[in-house]
Amino acid sequence: MPTLKIHHIGYLVKKIEAAIHTFETLGYQVVQASMYDDIRKVNICFMQKDNYCIELVSPAAEDSLVSGLLKKYKNCPYHICYETADFDRDYQMLLSNGFISIDTPTPAPALQGRDVVFLTSASMGMIELLRS
Ligand code: NI
Repeated sequence: MPTLKIHHIGYLVKKIEAAIHTFETLGYQVVQASMYDDIRKVNICFMQKDNYCIELVSPAAEDSLVSGLLKKYKNCPYHICYETADFDRDYQMLLSNGFISIDTPTPAPALQGRDVVFLTSASMGMIELLRS
């Protein structure tokens, strides 16, 4: 069995400060202030409500990793991140179950430098895998 645990839901947002304010209106609290990820050229903020964690991701440059996605999908949730204590095994398990890797495992500055990788499935869209 995989050891996947839901870590956060990722939201694409055009303006991160405006999005933080709106999520606060719904009762979310900032648990990690907005910070710049220079690998992906995005700003990232984590918020929490009722034990659900959301990640707001906003492009910080025209050529950021998510600029194209934001143009296509506008503000929206776009991935669920799964944390695993057995990253390498679960990554291989996903690949052998039809998931396609859209990048390679890369450290995420907003997640203590832990490795993350994004994968996509033809039947359910994008997920993120996070090393515990
Ligand atoms: Ni994420």
